[in-house]
Amino acid sequence: MKPFSLENLLRENIKNIRPYSTARDEYSGVALVNLDANENPFGSINGSANHRYPDPYQSPLKQVIAKIKDVPANQIFLGNGSDEGIDLIFKAFCNPGVDEAIICPPTYGMYSVSADINDVRCVSISLTADFQLQTEKILHAVNERTKLIWICSPNNPSGNLIKRTDIEHILQNFSGMVIVDEAYIDFADEPSWTRSLAQFPNLIVLQTFSKAWGLANIRLGMMFASREVIAVINKIKLPYNINGVVQTLAQEILEQHAATKDIFVRDILSERTWLVEQLSQVKTVQKIYPSDANFVLVKISDAHALYLYLVANGIIVRDRSKIELCENCLRITVGTHQENELLIEKILKFAQA
Ligand SMILES: Cc1ncc(COP(=O)(O)O)c(C=O)c1O
Repeated sequence: MKPFSLENLLRENIKNIRPYSTARDEYSGVALVNLDANENPFGSINGSANHRYPDPYQSPLKQVIAKIKDVPANQIFLGNGSDEGIDLIFKAFCNPGVDEAIICPPTYGMYSVSADINDVRCVSISLTADFQLQTEKILHAVNERTKLIWICSPNNPSGNLIKRTDIEHILQNFSGMVIVDEAYIDFADEPSWTRSLAQFPNLIVLQTFSKAWGLANIRLGMMFASREVIAVINKIKLPYNINGVVQTLAQEILEQHAATKDIFVRDILSERTWLVEQLSQVKTVQKIYPSDANFVLVKISDAHALYLYLVANGIIVRDRSKIELCENCLRITVGTHQENELLIEKILKFAQA
């Protein structure tokens, strides 16, 4: 195995790129008069303070996130959801039509969609029947064009954490980038991989404010990696990728309400326990997969028909019955108690019909 070298791994054009320099890059202090960015000097049309371009690097917000996550601000990238981070990772490392990435289905669909958009070939090495990595098969599939290995832990749609020792094995034996997507880590009982960033220069960790934090609408995702990787991602992102309204709002929320996230997590986990208990008593339920996330994957007779029945009754779950290793499975997000009760009532009705 070649030793890890960011220089060798990056696309040649990205390595040499001169990023667009915004007016805010060139002068970021507080001036008497700002005539450098072609903004409207009179203000916004509704009198709100939205007429100035926002901070391209979201510095004050990153300071708050750095404290919460215990990761230095210069090792954090913020994106329009973690989906933006996923796309930028392909852009930074994979030459279109040449390079490859490994994904481990069933998993989050955006890795392969983003690969397709960027014209990157995805090699699929399925998870095992209990949704763990086939580490040796993955490493065997690596060739000189393989730049990325995508791991989702806890995994969507199965809900389980991927074994730490397996992820470590991949990190140690692959000299490309290993991305651990931790969108659901707040619901899990294990520490984040952010703790291992200093140990593995080829590690990228993704997290999001869309799940436990209850902020899906504001579209704010996090990427954590070495300073060098984050510097590259910053070079290729769109200049003002996080708008100022979101920056201010997120900073306020995180400064004032961070503790509420733990209360949400506690309540969602207790509802998950209730939901699993109820589902386990439904005679058509064949298996409830162990979950470290805010959803459960359930194998149930005639999953697609049940899905349609639930839709007809105004309840939308995710039909995963057609995807690999998930035959007859529905992915059910843990709702409020009232929502979960209604769901169970309808599932029981369907089972009795
Ligand atoms: C595993 C995983 N990663 C990333 C995302 C996207 O998160 P975001 O809302 O931050 O784009 C999702 C959304 O469902 C997800 O399941």
